[in-house]
Amino acid sequence: VTVYVPRDSSALAVGAEALAEAIQREAAQRGVDLRLARNGSRGLFWLEPLVEVVTLAGRIAYGPVQAQDVPELFDAGFLAGGAHPTRLGPIEQIPYLQRQQRLTCARVGLIDPLDLDDYLAHGGYRGLHRALEHTPEEIIAAITASGLRGRGGAAFPAGIKWNTVREAPGDVKYIVGNADEGDSGSFADRLIMEGDPFALIEGMTIAALAVGATQGYIYLRVEYPHAHATLERALATAYRAGYLGADVAGSGKRFDLEVRLGAGAYVCGEETALLESLEGKRGIVRSKPPLPALRGLFGQPTLVNNVLTLATVPYILAEGAEAYQQLGTGRSRGTLPIQLAGNIARPGLIEQPFGISLREILYDYGGGSATGRPLRAVQVGGPLGAYVPAAHFDLPLDYEVFAAQGAVLGHGSIVAFDDTVDMARMARHALAFCAAESCGKCTPCRLGSTRGVEVMDDVLAGRQVEAKLALLRDLGETMRLGSLCALGGMTPYPVLSALEHFPEDFTAAAARSR
Ligand code: NAI
Ligand code: SF4
Repeated sequence: VTVYVPRDSSALAVGAEALAEAIQREAAQRGVDLRLARNGSRGLFWLEPLVEVVTLAGRIAYGPVQAQDVPELFDAGFLAGGAHPTRLGPIEQIPYLQRQQRLTCARVGLIDPLDLDDYLAHGGYRGLHRALEHTPEEIIAAITASGLRGRGGAAFPAGIKWNTVREAPGDVKYIVGNADEGDSGSFADRLIMEGDPFALIEGMTIAALAVGATQGYIYLRVEYPHAHATLERALATAYRAGYLGADVAGSGKRFDLEVRLGAGAYVCGEETALLESLEGKRGIVRSKPPLPALRGLFGQPTLVNNVLTLATVPYILAEGAEAYQQLGTGRSRGTLPIQLAGNIARPGLIEQPFGISLREILYDYGGGSATGRPLRAVQVGGPLGAYVPAAHFDLPLDYEVFAAQGAVLGHGSIVAFDDTVDMARMARHALAFCAAESCGKCTPCRLGSTRGVEVMDDVLAGRQVEAKLALLRDLGETMRLGSLCALGGMTPYPVLSALEHFPEDFTAAAARSR
C-alpha cells in the first residue's frame, strides 16, 4: 500500500513529520507492508496534514490528521480507504480541488517532487522535448501566442521580454528565476518549488534554449529552507539524468542552473536589486534603462522571470499556445494560481482562469471568514496592493479591470479581513513596512515613508486631522509618481484605498484619541 504524506512547509508546520513517522511505526508494529511517499501540498491548507492512501478506487484523502490519530486510522482500515471521521473521500472529488483548472500547478501535491520518473510519468519534460524540435524563434512565438504575461505582478508580456533578450547582443546571457516571494499571503512559488521543482527547472531550460542563455540562477529567499533543500536535490537529479549540463537532453546545448539565497530583504524581489544581490552586492535598486533584458547580471542580457511564469512554460510548449490562450478574459490569458489567506475559513491555492470574481474565491472556495463574521475587505497583490471593499467583491480577476479600479492583481495573493479590522491601522502598517524595507536610493520613498508614518500617527492621535489627511494624499501622490521602483511607488495604494473606502476608520481613530 502506498500512503502519501506531504513534506511541504505548510504541512510540516502542523505536524506532518510526526505523522509520517507515526504511520511508519504503526505499520511496522502491525507487520503491514507500506510505502510512505512524500508529496507536495495540494494547497488545501485547512485540511493539512492531508494524508492520501492509494486504493483500487483511487487516492482516498484523510485530513486533518495528527500523529495521535494513527492507531485509530489503522483500526478503521484506512489503508483500504475505510471510514473514519477524518475521511474526505477521493481527493479529486473534493469540490475545492475538483472545480479548479490546474495547469501551472497540475502536479503539485500529486507527485513525489523528488522522483524524476514520477515527473516524467505525469507529462514532465514533454515541453522541453517539444521545444527541442523547434527553433528559438518558434519557441518565443509560442510563448507570445499563448498570451502569457509576467506573473510576478507587473504582467509584462513574456514573449516580448524573451525576444528582447534573444536579440540583445552579448556573448553570455543569463536566466534568473525570481523566487524571492516576499508578498504577504503569497505562497504559490513555494508550493511549486517544494511540490514540483522540475517544472521550474524545465521552464528555465526551455527559456534558456529560446533566448540563448547558458547559465541560470534561481534567486531564492532564505526564509524557504524546505524549498531550498528540494531544489538542490532536484537539480542534482536533473544533472545526473542529463537534463542539465553540457548536453541538455542529448541536444548538444549547454545549460547550467544553480540556486542562490537572498538575505531577507523585500526589495530584492525587485529585479534590479535582485541582480545587485546576485552579484554579491547590497540589494539596491538600479535605474532603468538599461533594462535587465539588455544589460542585466554582470552587465549581460538577462531574462528575469517569476517562478510562476517559468513554471507555466512547460505546459504551453507541451499542450500548445492555443490551449493556454483560449482560457481567461480580456488581455489576461490563461490561468492564475490564486493564493487565498488571512481571515478565511478555507485558505489555500486556487488555480483558475482569469475572470473568476473575488466573491467566488472568497465564498465558494474560501467559505467566508474563519471567524464567521462578515468579510469587510481584502488586500490583493501583497502588502502594497490596494484594499478592496466588500462592495467591489464582484470584480473579476483581470489585470486591466483591477488597474481601472486603482488596484493590482500582483502575484495573485488575496488576504481577507473581517469587520473587526481597523483600516487606519492597516494604512499605517503599509507606510511602516515601506520605511523598514526601503532600499534608500530615492528620496520620495526613503523620506516619504518615514514622514508618512509620522503624519499618520498625527491623524490617529486626532491632531489637525483634515490638514494631515490632505498632506498624506499629497505625499502619496509624490511617492506614486516620484519613486524609482514599485516599492515606494505602490505604498500609496493601500494607504489611499483605505482612506477612500473606509474614511470612517480614520475619523473614529481620531475621535477616540481626542
Ligand atoms: P515593470 O513594469 O517596470 O517591468 C516589468 C518587467 O518587464 C521587468 O522585468 C522589465 O525589465 C520588463 N520590461 C519592461 N519593458 C520592457 C521592454 N520594452 N522589453 C523587455 N522587457 C521589458 O515592473 P517591475 O518594477 O519589474 O515590477 C513591479 C511589479 O512587481 C508590481 O506591479 C508588483 O505587483 C510586483 N511586485 C511583486 C512582488 C512579489 O513578491 N511577487 C513584490 C512586490 C511587487
Ligand atoms: Fe529604493 Fe524605495 Fe526608491 Fe525603490 S522606491 S529605489 S525601494 S528608495
